[in-house]
Amino acid sequence: MNTNVPTSLYAQRRARMARQLGGNGVAIVPTAPERPRNRDSDFLYRHDSYFYYLTGFTEPNAWLVVAADGTSTLFCQPKDTEREIWDGFRLGPEAATAALGVNEAHPIGELDARLPKLLENKASVWFPFATHAGLEQRIAGWLSQVRSRVRYGALCPEEQHDLCAVLDEMRLFKDPHEQDVMRRAAAISARAHVRAMKASARMLREGHDLREYHLDAELLHEFRAGGSQYTAYGSIVAAGANACVLHYRADAAPIRPGELVLIDAGCELDGYASDITRTFPADGKFTGPQRTLYDLVLASQQAAVDATKPGARFTDPHDAAVKVLAQGMLDTGLLDRNKVGTLDDVIEKRAYFQFYMHRTGHWIGMDVHDAGSYVEPGQTGEVSERKDPLSGEVIKNRPSRILRPGMALTIEPGLYVRPGEGVPEAFHHIGIRIEDDAIVTPEGCELITRGAPVKADEIEALMRG
Ligand code: GLY
Ligand code: MN
Ligand code: MN
Repeated sequence: MNTNVPTSLYAQRRARMARQLGGNGVAIVPTAPERPRNRDSDFLYRHDSYFYYLTGFTEPNAWLVVAADGTSTLFCQPKDTEREIWDGFRLGPEAATAALGVNEAHPIGELDARLPKLLENKASVWFPFATHAGLEQRIAGWLSQVRSRVRYGALCPEEQHDLCAVLDEMRLFKDPHEQDVMRRAAAISARAHVRAMKASARMLREGHDLREYHLDAELLHEFRAGGSQYTAYGSIVAAGANACVLHYRADAAPIRPGELVLIDAGCELDGYASDITRTFPADGKFTGPQRTLYDLVLASQQAAVDATKPGARFTDPHDAAVKVLAQGMLDTGLLDRNKVGTLDDVIEKRAYFQFYMHRTGHWIGMDVHDAGSYVEPGQTGEVSERKDPLSGEVIKNRPSRILRPGMALTIEPGLYVRPGEGVPEAFHHIGIRIEDDAIVTPEGCELITRGAPVKADEIEALMRG
């Protein structure tokens, strides 16, 4: 548990949520289950983000119930000398009320017995839909117990609502505490990227049989040395052509001088993710063709950064990046003007998709792909349709989210050149992505991951060491 955070922060979030539960609703939020890996070994435990957002509590086997009047009840593991010898400290319900600022706390074993009472005489029940296996059935069981008491005058909630909608909107705007943790997570991850770049050049200079996992080890060292608890997602360390596989993972491929290395890796610190991609020459010196494409991706990222500001739409940075990349594809001969036509044609017909096939960003926060609607609230009914020129599928466009201060998103354009008809050989197998995390400010955006250099000259200088 992160003991540096005042419990009032979580109490304020619970109160804000409670005010949105209608006059007489009640919210139920379980934390994540422990997941078996094999036999009696579990995967490394990670709490549920919604639950953590409302409690700051990281133990497994815990539930939170919040009524519309703000009363909060926690269920958690009881103190148990024997279990604590094996598994470690448990807060226990007696200490939980003061430590977490909840009104009541009970042992988890009393959940089934107490929940029907907490649901009785409430108008509606709110819980995260489609996020926890079996949750709907569990709640249905408690509701059926309430219903069995209606002839004694009990009222049974008549409505069920998705609590995700309420919490996702709250989570989309990062408060100063969250921004602070995200900056610190970003700083650790940036140091890890710097460490991996330096290690790559050094190990090749020293004649090592350098492998992707060696650089993964450098990342992990810096993450843990910085106090981070987890990686925010599976690290990508991709040598050479592997960079063109978007979801490649750090494996055992050799890293050779003259190749590029793409690293997409970020740590999670105190519940918050960071997400950085850097692409660098394994031996510290870009070749001509690598540099040409690298500078193009960097220019497209700068265009996207410039478009990340309050009042812009979430899709604006993507559109700005695509414009620069598409122009660059024509200028470098990746796309043949005689075949694909003008810049407008390339964008309209999505010809750029051959080399750039993903979006330029996503919300980031507690989850690397964080919660929050990508459609502007109040404009969800405004739908336009268009036919995708590549797949022929009908795509529904709703007005994209308007960016506002406190939102956090990644900016991550790339280029991935697989050999193909007419594709200049000099660019074959080059895969480049540059990714930074941005917090929208009143003036524009703050890039919190720039502790890791992005300019080609700066990367080369760093790697010269
Ligand atoms: N590392 C995951 C992503 O960039 O979305
Ligand atoms: Mn990433
Ligand atoms: Mn990302």
